[in-house]
Amino acid sequence: MARETSASDRRFAMRQVITTAAIAGLGGLLFGYDTGVIASALLFIEPEFGLSSFGSGLVVAAVPIGAVGGALFAGRLSDTYGRRLMILISATIFIVGAIGSALADSEAVLVIARVVVGAAIGLASAAAPVYISEVSPPDVRGRLVTFFQLSVTVGIVVAYGVGLAFEPSGDWRWMLGLGAVPAIALLIGMLRMPQSPRWLVMVGRGYDARATLERIRVDDPAAIDAELDEISESIVTEPGSWRDLLEPVAKAALLVGVGLAILQQVSGINTVIYFAPTIIGYTGIDSNSAAILASVAVGIVNVGMTLVAIRLLDRAGRRPLLLWGTALMATALSALAIVFMTGASGDIGSFVAIGSLMLYVGAFAVSLGPIFWLLNAEIYPLKIRSKAASVGTMANWTFNFIVSLTFLLLIDALGRSGAFFFYAAICVLTFFFCKALVPETKGKRLEEIQAIFAERVGEKPPPTS
Ligand code: BGC
Repeated sequence: MARETSASDRRFAMRQVITTAAIAGLGGLLFGYDTGVIASALLFIEPEFGLSSFGSGLVVAAVPIGAVGGALFAGRLSDTYGRRLMILISATIFIVGAIGSALADSEAVLVIARVVVGAAIGLASAAAPVYISEVSPPDVRGRLVTFFQLSVTVGIVVAYGVGLAFEPSGDWRWMLGLGAVPAIALLIGMLRMPQSPRWLVMVGRGYDARATLERIRVDDPAAIDAELDEISESIVTEPGSWRDLLEPVAKAALLVGVGLAILQQVSGINTVIYFAPTIIGYTGIDSNSAAILASVAVGIVNVGMTLVAIRLLDRAGRRPLLLWGTALMATALSALAIVFMTGASGDIGSFVAIGSLMLYVGAFAVSLGPIFWLLNAEIYPLKIRSKAASVGTMANWTFNFIVSLTFLLLIDALGRSGAFFFYAAICVLTFFFCKALVPETKGKRLEEIQAIFAERVGEKPPPTS
């Protein structure tokens, strides 16, 4: 019999899911920390190991290459062993990789250790958002999955701070090794977290799924049966195979997920995250401290606007944020390109350029940044969810790598203004892509979202209560 629920039950249940999402979201810290720290560390690694340009490129590229591999394995492994175990394993691998990088005594060992770090990041970025989406109640899922992106942005800023702190001593080993700290927190925290109830149903452990839901939905015990029924009806009791990704519903959802994975990167965010000081330098400011300050400001705007996204995602919805965000990103990049085209230098040129960069990063942080990771964790049918999410994650890391590698070449080929007009054009393309293809998922249960794609391809949606 359903018992009365009190305000304190509701608060307790909310605290449970928030804690779960916050701990799993720490997976993003591994990702952000490495993104933010490598540029500073490289300054000191290069002379110590006498790295050539190719060698430096390899040390940086080892992480995205490892991440593509890690994401590939995440799909099958998190179906077989569960999302929670994958997060635990990724934290463990990260600790090994971070310590290995810190102790590396040659270029080869460093590259191998960084591939290991990358594999952990790939695993975590495929498994953590899916895990959070599967434990969250629908009305707050957007903000809880966005804890992952928040950790990415906080990781970037913390890494800038660590880079600055160790710059005087040039101790790159500490810079890389300290990445193990958030990984240890993730490992210890996740040991106490529950399994995903949806994964438990999928592997035939309905009894355990009920126990988990009873723990995280104490505020609404009456709804647990309905939630369990709905999950059971939405799947064919066992995880799908890779071939199932070619079924029409899966393909329709993958078009959106993989499309956003690629567009999130080719619209240029990491050119700013990795090269902010260089871009600021183009505007005529040539003091090192101003360039560093610009990177820190970019990092802070990124965190601040991700917090705004957390407030807005479950209220305004995903689509309006995506449309406004990509339109503003296109506007900001066009303004930057115009500054470079007109050669406006001096105070006005720098002011407009820095303002445009901040607008661009802020608009990304409230839209494409968190919403790609959110949709990649919520739009696929349960049967193929973790495999499809790992395909989206792989695409994201592959294009992260390609864009970082080609940015300076693109500037050589198209000039500064041409390069930023190019990224602005991609933002316009992203706007139309979102307008045409991204469904609104705000407040919907994961099983209802699955039904949207089934209807899109003319299939009978699975029954929803
Ligand atoms: C992207 C990363 C990027 C970060 C910046 C993430 O959503 O996937 O490539 O570095 O946002 O905040």
